[in-house]
Amino acid sequence: MRRIAFINEKGGSCKTTLAVNIAAYFAGQKKSRVLLVDMDPQGQAGKSLGFYVRDLAPNVYDLLLDPALPVEAVIRPSQVPNLDVICSNKRLSDFPVEAAPAADRERRLAKKLEGLGRYDFVLVDSPPSAGLLTTNILLSVEEVVVPVNLTYFALDGCAEIVESVERMRRDFGKAVLDIVLVVPTLYRPTRLAEEILEKLRTHFPEHTARTVIGYNVKIDEAQSHGKTIWDYAAWSPGAAMLESLSKEIWRAKQP
Ligand SMILES: Nc1ncnc2c1ncn2[C@@H]1O[C@H](COP(=O)(O)OP(=O)(O)OP(=O)(O)O)[C@@H](O)[C@H]1O
Ligand SMILES: [Mg+2]
Repeated sequence: MRRIAFINEKGGSCKTTLAVNIAAYFAGQKKSRVLLVDMDPQGQAGKSLGFYVRDLAPNVYDLLLDPALPVEAVIRPSQVPNLDVICSNKRLSDFPVEAAPAADRERRLAKKLEGLGRYDFVLVDSPPSAGLLTTNILLSVEEVVVPVNLTYFALDGCAEIVESVERMRRDFGKAVLDIVLVVPTLYRPTRLAEEILEKLRTHFPEHTARTVIGYNVKIDEAQSHGKTIWDYAAWSPGAAMLESLSKEIWRAKQP
């Protein structure tokens, strides 16, 4: 089983877009069994798959706060065959305060996901902030994919992720945790975007994705319809870019 988190503490870097569509690609095209876990109080991974998350309970918040609640109780099948989801909503934003006194607060998600043997992939969507939710995510996965919106402050976000990963190793003894891919996103052909892309490749020579995700309105439209790009516009340039990236992530750990 591969466990992969899509993380960047900066907002709007395409974490949800990549997590949802890559999960759907692995499930739909590669026939893998996939679990997508939404760890963002915005609940957009579930929304992107057509769930009305506002009233959906139990959800990931209950899972993290109720030690007796089995993970099976919050797993829901999605419209995509082989793709299951654990949804989130804004109640999750209370988790850091409510769990603060608990000694095991950083390992809640890891513990709940431990016994899940039936999936080939667990993909986790992350909130746009550092904190207890992100720590829980990093302690639950072995691989990190960092989507980077090619804007001026992009590299700051990358530096923060590198530091967070090092902190997991140092402070929590997390032995296996690697940034497997840094993915340039929302590319437009401007000089600034080219410069930032170049810097990204210099900083992460072995891990910058070959696929650069450019702007394509079909990707945005698909989400607004609660559909994956494969169901909404499979022949669009957006789908081609996401397919190419899915294959890179697929290959990243194949023998
Ligand atoms: N390649 C693309 N072309 C056009 N629009 C895109 C593309 N990728 C993502 N978007 C749109 O950009 C917005 C931000 O993307 P997304 O929600 O995936 O980012 P995020 O990193 O998850 O944001 P947040 O930090 O708020 O969780 C969304 O409306 C999404 O539909
Ligand atoms: Mg998101």
